[in-house]
Amino acid sequence: MNNQQINDAMSIKLDSVLPEYPKFVEGIRRAPDRGYTLNKSETETALRNALRYVPQELHEKLIPEFLEELKTRGRIYGYRFRPEGRIVGKPINEYKGNCIEGKAFQVMIDNNLDFDVALYPYELVTYGETGQVCQNWMQYRLIKKYLEVLHNDETLVVMSGHPLGLFKSDEHAPRVIMTQGLMVGMFDSQKEWHRAMQLGVANYGQMTAGGWMYIGPQGIVHGTFNTILNAGRMKLGIPADGDLTGHLFVSSGLGGMSGAQSKAVEIARGVGIIAEVDISRIKTRHEQGWVSLIKETPKEAFDTANEYLKAGKSTSIAFHGNIVDLLEYAVKNDIKIELLSDQTSCHAVYDGGYCPQGLTFEERTEMLAKDPEKFRKLVDKSLKAHFKAIKALHDKGTYFFDYGNAFMRSVFDAGVTEICANGKDTRDGFIFPSYVEDIMGPMLFDYGYGPFRWVCLSHKHEDLIKTDHAAMECIDPNRRSQDRDNYVWIRDAEKNSLVVGTEARILYSDAEGRVKIALKFNELVRKGEIGPVMLGRDHHDTGGTDSPYRETANIKDGSNIMADMATQCYAGNAARGMSLISLHNGGGVGIGKSINGGFGLVLDGSERVDKIIRNAMTWDVMVGVTRRSWGRCPHAMEVAADFNKKTDNHVTLPFVVDDELIKKVLK
Ligand SMILES: NC(=O)c1ccc[n+]([C@@H]2O[C@H](COP(=O)([O-])OP(=O)(O)OC[C@H]3O[C@@H](n4cnc5c(N)ncnc54)[C@H](O)[C@@H]3O)[C@@H](O)[C@H]2O)c1
Repeated sequence: MNNQQINDAMSIKLDSVLPEYPKFVEGIRRAPDRGYTLNKSETETALRNALRYVPQELHEKLIPEFLEELKTRGRIYGYRFRPEGRIVGKPINEYKGNCIEGKAFQVMIDNNLDFDVALYPYELVTYGETGQVCQNWMQYRLIKKYLEVLHNDETLVVMSGHPLGLFKSDEHAPRVIMTQGLMVGMFDSQKEWHRAMQLGVANYGQMTAGGWMYIGPQGIVHGTFNTILNAGRMKLGIPADGDLTGHLFVSSGLGGMSGAQSKAVEIARGVGIIAEVDISRIKTRHEQGWVSLIKETPKEAFDTANEYLKAGKSTSIAFHGNIVDLLEYAVKNDIKIELLSDQTSCHAVYDGGYCPQGLTFEERTEMLAKDPEKFRKLVDKSLKAHFKAIKALHDKGTYFFDYGNAFMRSVFDAGVTEICANGKDTRDGFIFPSYVEDIMGPMLFDYGYGPFRWVCLSHKHEDLIKTDHAAMECIDPNRRSQDRDNYVWIRDAEKNSLVVGTEARILYSDAEGRVKIALKFNELVRKGEIGPVMLGRDHHDTGGTDSPYRETANIKDGSNIMADMATQCYAGNAARGMSLISLHNGGGVGIGKSINGGFGLVLDGSERVDKIIRNAMTWDVMVGVTRRSWGRCPHAMEVAADFNKKTDNHVTLPFVVDDELIKKVLK
C-alpha cells in the first residue's frame, strides 16, 4: 500500500501540518537522558516506529529531530507534537466528545500532565521517575482525537500508549481498555524493556500514570498517613485512638508519591525529616504547603526536629541532601530515630531513581548521561552504606520498614546478601518488613480497605465539598478503628488543603463502604446537585495488584509470586462494565516484579451506573479479599465469611489444618 492509500483509509489521524516546535518553559523539571543503546538497525526500527504516526510529507523534517531525541534523551518523545504551554485538566464541558466517558478521560489525561502535578511534564512522566501517561506526544494527540469521537457503543483499545483503534462493543462494555508494558515471560526484564522502550513499543505506565487516574500526591497521603500512624501504634505503644505527637519519622523523597510523607506526618501530628537531593522538588512541596521547613545540614534538621518533639508540636522538615548523609549523622551522633523508611525511586535504581551518596542531584543527572557504568557502581556503593546505617540504627531500636520502592531488593542486587532473611537469596524475603507485610496488608488490605478516590469533573470546588460531606455520612466511625481513622480523614480533608490539580479526593474504604459512597454520589449526580464524577482507585490496593514484595507480601501460601488475581480483577472489571480498565507491568517496583491494574468509572447519574457500582466495585475489592482469605490471612477470612452470609455471592474459604498434625507426620 502507498501512503496516499493509507491516508485515505483513516479518518482519525494526525494532521499533515507540522506543528510549531514548542518552547520549553523555564524551571519545569526535565527527565534525565534514559540512555541510548540501540544498534544501527534497531535505530532504524525506532525511527520507523515513531514516524508511522505522522503523514509522509513530514518525515524528512522529523527524522533528524527524532534521531536527536533518541540519542540525547534515550527515547523519542516527539516534543514537536506537544501542545504549547501548560496542559491542565479543564472542566469536562470544555472538552469535545460524543460521550461523557470520552470527555472525562481527557480531563484525567490532561491532569496527569499538568505542570503542577506531573514530575516531568514534557516527557509525559506523571510520577515515579518513569511512569508515563503514554510514550510520546503523537500518541497523546491521537488518543485525544479518538476520545473526541468515541461513542457509547465503542471501545478504544490502548496498548502501551498506542491507540490501536475504536472497536464496536455496547453500552455495557468499557469505553477504554488499556495495557501497559506487558511483556512475554522470557523477555520480561528491565534490560529488554529498556530496548523495547527505545524502539517505541513499550510504555512504563507505573500504576495510575498509565491508568490516567493519578490525582497528585494527595492520592498517596491517606495511605502514608495510615501507614505511619499504624506503624507508631504497632511499635511505639501508641493507643488505637492516639496519634504521633512527640514521635519522629525519618525518610527520603519529596517526589511524586514520596512528597506525601511530609504532609502525612503532620496530619498524624508527628515530626518528620525527609531527605531530598533535588531542591526543585523541595521548593514545589514547600510552595504547595506540603512541607513546612527546609534545612541544609543534618545537624540543623535534627536540632529543629528535637525542639518540636520536646514542645509536642508537629512539623515536617525537608533536609536538602542525601538520605545516607542524614542517617550516618544520626548514627555518629547517637540520635534516636523511632520510625524510619525510604522512598527514593529504587524501582528505577540505575535509571536516576536513586542518587548515590557523594553526588549532587545535578552531578547525578550528568553522570547518568555520560558514564552510566560508573553511575551504577556509585549507586551500589551508596546502597551498601545506606544499609549499614539503617542496620546500625535498627540495632539501637529503630523500626525500619521498606516502603514498597524495591529498596531492599536493590540493596540485595548491590551485593548485600545480609539483607536476606535466609542470608543468601530473596526466596524467603528480607530481614526488614515491607510496609504491606507488617502494616497495610493485615490492617487494611485484608479487610478490603484501599485507596478509593474520585475526581469532580465539573472542576467545581463546591462539588468536592459536597462529596466530602456525602462520603462522611456514609461512614460509621464506630464500626472498626479503620472506619474511625477514615472518618477523621474525610472530616479534616478540606482543612488539610490536599488538592493539587483537579478537584479530587482520596478516601480509604472497604467494599461495602465504596459501594455505599459511590451510590450516594451517583444519586447526587442524578439529582443535579453535583456534576459528573470519575471514580477510581490506586492500583496499589486489595485486589488490583500482584507484587510479591509489596501488595501481596503478606500472603504466605506461596501464591504471592502468581499474577492471577490482578489479571482476574481486570477481566472481571471489564465484564462488569467499568468505564476504563488498565493492566500494567512493573508499577512501583519495576518491570517483571508486579502485575497491577486499575479502573475508572464515570458517574453520570444513570441506573445503569448504579448497577455497575453494585457489581463491579464489589468484585474489584472482594476478588482481593477472597484471594487473601484463601491465602489464610485471618482478617480476610472473617470478611469473606461475612460476604457469604450477607450477600448473594459465594466464595471458597480455606479449612485450617492443625500445624502440629503436619509436624507429627513429617517428623
Ligand atoms: N508513597 C507510597 O505509598 C508508595 C507506595 C509504594 C511504593 N512507593 C515507591 O516510592 C518510590 C518513590 O516514588 P515517587 O513517586 O515519589 O518517585 P519520585 O522519583 O518522584 O521521587 C523520589 C525522590 O527521591 C529523591 N532521591 C533519590 N535518591 C535520593 C537520595 N539518595 N537521598 C535523598 N533523596 C533522594 C529524588 O530526587 C526524588 O525526588 C517509588 O519507588 C515508588 O514506587 C511509594
